[in-house]
Amino acid sequence: MNILTLETTCDETAAAIVTDRLEVLSSVVASQDDLHRRFGGVVPEIASRAHVERILPVIHETLLKAGLTLKNIDAVAVANTPGLAGSLLVGLLAAKAICLAQGIPLLAVNHLQAHIYACRLAADEEVFPCVGLIISGGHTSLYLCRDALEFDLLGSTIDDAAGEAFDKVAAMLGLPYPGGPAIGRAAEGGNPKAHNFPRALLGDDNRLDFSFSGLKTAVRYAIAGPGKPDFSNFNPSPGQVADLAASFQEAVVDCLVGKAFAALRKTGMNVLCVGGGVAANARLRQRLTEQSRRQNVRLHVAPLPLCTDNAVMGAIAVERLKAGRIESLDLDIQPGMIRPAK
Ligand code: KG4
Ligand code: ZN
Repeated sequence: MNILTLETTCDETAAAIVTDRLEVLSSVVASQDDLHRRFGGVVPEIASRAHVERILPVIHETLLKAGLTLKNIDAVAVANTPGLAGSLLVGLLAAKAICLAQGIPLLAVNHLQAHIYACRLAADEEVFPCVGLIISGGHTSLYLCRDALEFDLLGSTIDDAAGEAFDKVAAMLGLPYPGGPAIGRAAEGGNPKAHNFPRALLGDDNRLDFSFSGLKTAVRYAIAGPGKPDFSNFNPSPGQVADLAASFQEAVVDCLVGKAFAALRKTGMNVLCVGGGVAANARLRQRLTEQSRRQNVRLHVAPLPLCTDNAVMGAIAVERLKAGRIESLDLDIQPGMIRPAK
């Protein structure tokens, strides 16, 4: 059985074809980074308009790469939550149109659950139940993942998402968007102890939340001077940028690793799955691997191509299909950062 999966929650227009045995027949991701770069972040209206232009060519190319036509597709799965409203609508309407025209079932994908399912796909074995850490441009959350479709929220950011902090600090340092990869590269030559940036909420194991806005402000003051928000005259040497990037990155990584392991202790779990764009960060992957080895935790981090948004992770729809959870054509978008549906 071949399932066409669509992903348009934010600024990537993506499609993939997966089988009900979790084989990936093809995958296409059209990034919009070039369109949003000069704004230093995603502009929702630009994103949704670009999805409209790209969705059909992306689906066409996905079919072509798999050597299939729509007649060979048995179901369509689409990420309908959470995300940007206009962006979500484009994917959902494309999915509904294909289902209506071909007379095939429609499946819903929760984008956050899909980020964790990327770990399941790569592991090629069961990973549930586990603690799931989802770290992206829009989300930073810890879940107790009872199975692929039942997640209980353990904690989340009370202000910025981790990826958002990477993007905003990169802009302060004059590094390009998206900021995560740029900071990762800049940090390679830097001293992570050069600046002692705050690690908010890290001391309290009972609270599994995150906060990155104070860290962002601390970087700003390190650039402009204490209490001075204006950094327009900042003209740093490459060495200064490297030290700031490395110290910032280390603070984020400390918080993510610290809270993920606190969640494992609190839930009594010994399996940790990590997904989302920030999971591509090399320093984070290294620290997670080291600590998991020390504490005998089974660690699954999404493989690099499945960290940032893609439609392959929409293979989670196979689980919904098996559970008989087929949607009507009345399916709507749910843009907000809601608790993943059970
Ligand atoms: O999962 P994703 O593609 O989109 C959302 O659902 O938000 O995540 C994008 C985020 C961006 O904020 C980007 O800066 C960050 O992931 N990111 C990284 C890295 N690669 C992407 N952050 C840290 N290190 C990276 N290597
Ligand atoms: Zn995402």
